[in-house]
Amino acid sequence: MSVNIEGGVKTVVLPYKPQDYQLEIHRDNHRYRVVIMGRRAGKTELALNELITKSGMKPGLYWYISSSYKQSKAIAWRRLKKLLRDDPAWKYNEIELAAKNEELDVVIELKGADNPFSLLGVGLAGLVMDECAILKEDVWTEVLRPMLMDQSGWVLVISTPKGKNWLYDLYMKGATGVEEEWKSWKHPTSINKYIKSQELEDIKKDMSERLYRQEILAEFLEKDIGVFKGIQKCSIGEEKAPEDGRFYVLGADLAKHEDFTVLTVMDAQRREVVCIERFKDISWKEIKDKIQYLANKYNDAMVLLDSTGVGDPILDDLQMSNISVDGYKFTNDSKYKLIQQLIVAIEQRLITFPNDDILIKELEDFTYEISANNNIIYNAPDGRHDDCVISLALAVWACRSFIHSAQVIERREDEEEAVDRQGHGIEIDTDDSDTMSVIPSNGRY
Ligand SMILES: Nc1ncnc2c1ncn2[C@@H]1O[C@H](COP(=O)(O)OP(=O)(O)O)[C@@H](O)[C@H]1O
Ligand SMILES: [Mg+2]
Repeated sequence: MSVNIEGGVKTVVLPYKPQDYQLEIHRDNHRYRVVIMGRRAGKTELALNELITKSGMKPGLYWYISSSYKQSKAIAWRRLKKLLRDDPAWKYNEIELAAKNEELDVVIELKGADNPFSLLGVGLAGLVMDECAILKEDVWTEVLRPMLMDQSGWVLVISTPKGKNWLYDLYMKGATGVEEEWKSWKHPTSINKYIKSQELEDIKKDMSERLYRQEILAEFLEKDIGVFKGIQKCSIGEEKAPEDGRFYVLGADLAKHEDFTVLTVMDAQRREVVCIERFKDISWKEIKDKIQYLANKYNDAMVLLDSTGVGDPILDDLQMSNISVDGYKFTNDSKYKLIQQLIVAIEQRLITFPNDDILIKELEDFTYEISANNNIIYNAPDGRHDDCVISLALAVWACRSFIHSAQVIERREDEEEAVDRQGHGIEIDTDDSDTMSVIPSNGRY
């Protein structure tokens, strides 16, 4: 940005030269603009510069909103300040993520949709919704849209698609030309000349065809790409009482805050889930008792529990009891590995589980986010649970060393059943990227 003052008029030049497709959007005067583009296509660049230039034309409050405060801070705050750095009129509030310019009577604030209380009760002159596909529809309809009323504020929706969800409906408003105030655009990542073709090739290598179509070609696919593929084919098991001589493992996801404790017992050799227990609002003492009871009941099952945070002292206590127990500590990386293992186990039908409504729903809902530094972070969508998924993933992890030998035995002795139920002894191999049709194998784009 450079600042010139001539004849009392201050002009500011931003350190940004829009590419043609960006310029077309900047120049467009529709009140509601929807821009669908692939990852790294230049959406955030476009959005921040749009906020700055428009704020120079009309006083008022302008918002940039993404899925969370943390994301907004990581993705946009530094970039915004960098764009504004040459104009000393801007003052910053680092906590509120607010840039204020008294000369213009303008405030630009960065917001996160994860804190609805921070979003209430103000009139907006303009609004950018970044990666809108992962926001909830009611954040738009119930919270943000009403804020644009008093000042006839504009909105710029920018996002990579995520199936034909509510964002698709917004896109169609502007794509069909039926709604006068709406206009939409759609571009693949390749439109951004700052992304080298080699980088694109590298990205492609790590992606399934469907993921590439969605994330890079910016296509609205018929169905969102769930994390787990082939859930139905695995959900043909049933709960079973313990049988003599069988070896069981138990995955334990412990309740934190508002969620549930879930215990999943698997027959390690048969790779079948035989028991799922789910409970809420009970004391740590009762949780420990339940784990111990269930492990004892299933032939002294080997327990693997989430030992992150509150799980750590529980692990210590259980280790002093008469059961065999180990801990699994969650970091983004270790969670990624745990979920990868479950993805392969389900996709290749290496496990079975009962057709339990809650488990199935959680598996179907389970999703990922791309973090600001392009890592994949697995999670339940906001407001939903993933305790059953994590508990299952821990059980599968606990018996992963049995999977290979179990398959060899099954192939020899139990061919019919293996063909039917579990995909005929395909070997599990978490490193084989060909088996990952859902997400890239290395967690990076
Ligand atoms: N007009 C532009 N001038 C310079 N660099 C640009 C421009 N548009 C995009 N880029 C660069 O392209 C890369 C991807 O842009 P970004 O806005 O982060 O993409 P997206 O938000 O779509 O993932 C960034 O390094 C960004 O600086
Ligand atoms: Mg972006």
